[in-house]
Amino acid sequence: MCRPDHFAVAYAINPWMQVGTPVDVGLATRQWEALRRTYLDLGHEVELIDPVPGLPDMVYAANGGLVVGGRAIGARFAYPERAAEGPAYLDWLVQAGLEDAREPEHVNEGEGDFLVVGGLILAGTGFRTSPAAHAEVQRFFGRRVVSLQLVDPRFYHLDTALAVLDDANVAYLPEAFSLSSRQVLESLFPDAILADDRDAEVLGLNAVSDGRHVVLAAAATGLATRLRAHGYVPVPVDLSELLKGGGGVKCCTLEVRP
Ligand code: ARG
Repeated sequence: MCRPDHFAVAYAINPWMQVGTPVDVGLATRQWEALRRTYLDLGHEVELIDPVPGLPDMVYAANGGLVVGGRAIGARFAYPERAAEGPAYLDWLVQAGLEDAREPEHVNEGEGDFLVVGGLILAGTGFRTSPAAHAEVQRFFGRRVVSLQLVDPRFYHLDTALAVLDDANVAYLPEAFSLSSRQVLESLFPDAILADDRDAEVLGLNAVSDGRHVVLAAAATGLATRLRAHGYVPVPVDLSELLKGGGGVKCCTLEVRP
């Protein structure tokens, strides 16, 4: 995770961002701290990367890379405003001992667009990560990558439209995907939890699950009810200040998978 010391809405690269929106860094930090506390209380280890001045979106650590089986691929951002985050996160991954960490060739926004479900990697495209990066990730990790087409600009990263719940199931907003991608999701996950626009509008799908506890936006009450009905334990947190940049729980979290 990356403390939001330099968080701001200094440019607009997604529909959630309005340049000039005042941001309360103190509040953002308290909300972010509560998320970190939640992970610690659930028994997870949390490591921190130093925030870099001038990189207001660096708090969204999920975009910094993809780590699977102790190997990592870094990020190459679609917008120049975030470009310098790529090397910053890659350095961290190398220093964390991931010797095989390498820079990607194609535009790749890390776990914003790549989500691991058991042995499978789901990959989003349409707004940020390029389809060429999907092939690159498949080659690098030797795992099956399933490409999914995002169609709603509000849900510009895969992790805003789909949440991984455990090794075999997901929750998603069907309308965020093209028709053919919806068919792919239906056949891969016949028992998926379907979210509605109200859940997605508060970035409720931008969640982190350990297979049982699902940490998600407190405002996503409908999704929380459905998760509970399916045997999961929703753990609500409020990241309203960080929503001004278009990110939530999952965006603030890069999972370092051993
Ligand atoms: N302002 C950031 C951007 O538009 C938000 C990134 C959110 N991260 C995520 N994993 N969805 O790039």
